[in-house]
Amino acid sequence: MSTENMKKSVDYISQKMAHLGIKPDTGIILGSGLGKIADEINGIKSPYSEIPGFKSSTIEGHTGNLVIGEFCSKNIVTMQGRLHFYEGHSLADVVYPVRIMKLLGVKNLIVTNAAGGINKEFSPGDLMIIEDHINLTGKNPLIGENIAEFGSRFPDMSDAYNKNFITTAQNSARELGIILRRGVYAWVTGPCYETPAEIRMLRTLGADAVGMSTVPEVITARHAGINVLGISCITNMATGILDQPLSHREVIETATRVEQKFTGLVKKIVEKI
Ligand code: HPA
Repeated sequence: MSTENMKKSVDYISQKMAHLGIKPDTGIILGSGLGKIADEINGIKSPYSEIPGFKSSTIEGHTGNLVIGEFCSKNIVTMQGRLHFYEGHSLADVVYPVRIMKLLGVKNLIVTNAAGGINKEFSPGDLMIIEDHINLTGKNPLIGENIAEFGSRFPDMSDAYNKNFITTAQNSARELGIILRRGVYAWVTGPCYETPAEIRMLRTLGADAVGMSTVPEVITARHAGINVLGISCITNMATGILDQPLSHREVIETATRVEQKFTGLVKKIVEKI
């Protein structure tokens, strides 16, 4: 991934947001069916297809806009829709926007996703703070030449999810009367959903939720010294827990159903961080 390309992206975005007179310091990545929050941002919206260096999202529920502006009195850059490895994008392309966020000045990142619930105490519609993750893909966005201007060759992942942010999220949920789960998120590539045997394996390994995103962005953000908060929307129980097949429609429907709760929580958190 050339830093020259990145400079072109940053120049394009900087020019577009010049009239706003702001410098975003918080990033938000909005997962499947959770993108509406970006419509509340007072600022500029750029489709990924217009930004040099960005690849476009191809998935229903992932609009594909970079939205920059004021939100809850903070200066925010939001990915309304993300890129997934299963779409055929390289991991370098998947995490490219996170690196651009870093170059724009982002210090804090809220990453959200739709996930399948593995922990049997969870229910569809629950929100879960990601305490830690398990990368089951054998892939890593940092494979290849290290870009030293972002971070070191062997970045530490012992504090991937910022503990102060987790406390802030819990306090925010309490104030809003929202029940917030906590757990470990397992990253799989997809695009097929898991088999029941795979879900039993993931439970044995200590995963509470499973999904096809987030981990590459978190690894890249931590490499670049960005503090991360992760929130999963449990859109469905993982395969084999309930006697019913999984579908993307169910994922989007649940995400849409809890959108108001999710938006309220994210707003409260943004106000506090
Ligand atoms: N598995 C993997 N990814 C997902 C799921 C799931 O059950 N639900 C939403 N994203």
